[in-house]
Amino acid sequence: MGKTKMIAQISNKRTFRLSFIALVSSFLIVMTGFADTASADEILDARVQQFLKEHVGDWRDMNVPYQDGKILHDIIVDRGFTRAFEIGTSTGHSTIWIAWALSKTGGTLATVEIDERRYETARENIAATGLTDYVEFILGDAHEVVPALEGSYDFVFSDADKGWYINYFDDMYPKLTNNACFIAHNVRDSQFRSGRSWEAEYLSHVRKAPDMLTLLHPDARNGIALTCKETKPGQGAMDDR
Ligand SMILES: C[S@@+](CC[C@H](N)C(=O)[O-])C[C@H]1O[C@@H](n2cnc3c(N)ncnc32)[C@H](O)[C@@H]1O
Repeated sequence: MGKTKMIAQISNKRTFRLSFIALVSSFLIVMTGFADTASADEILDARVQQFLKEHVGDWRDMNVPYQDGKILHDIIVDRGFTRAFEIGTSTGHSTIWIAWALSKTGGTLATVEIDERRYETARENIAATGLTDYVEFILGDAHEVVPALEGSYDFVFSDADKGWYINYFDDMYPKLTNNACFIAHNVRDSQFRSGRSWEAEYLSHVRKAPDMLTLLHPDARNGIALTCKETKPGQGAMDDR
């Protein structure tokens, strides 16, 4: 074998070896990255779960019950919602469930509360869960904040003054994306059927919204009405049209 040919073969082998090492290194770096991401998610999940478990009996500010918080969480995760707005933060129980779900879908939440003490407590609670990066807190009157909102939303949770629910719905309607859900808390089927409550008026109003379907979640403890821009009924939910 000529000297030039030998040098060329050695050089090819070196190049191959170096390429192989580079490939294996890249693979290891990518895998390490995945491992880091997974553990960060797991740490956050464990922290939120621990907080929710420890505080399950502590919510005294008209907060959603645990079961209703979980329903909100599951709706967001199941439907992949990413742009959420909450009306009525209180001390942040529903905020935690919503923000936790958004940490899984890559979304964010803005939430408004009029009472300063509750607003401050909610901020502290969210900080304790590690979910601060997912939430923008607004201290203010939702009657003014909601109509002035810019942008679009795929998930709205209405849980402030019940007498204003219809206004909140009408103000948010033009800002909803084409797969959005507007969710109202404390709306119950039995009272709707009695036909004499603010809930009846609310349900009658949202059922007139074009291109939206209203469902009452059968598993909610304190009444959850979903009004969604789709025709597919939610899993386990009841179509009241
Ligand atoms: C039922 S509580 C919300 C509970 C909260 N979603 C939770 O689960 O933790 C209703 C909250 O709405 C607030 N609120 C009532 N009217 C409001 C308004 N006009 N603007 C902003 N917040 C309001 C109240 O101060 C109260 O904290």
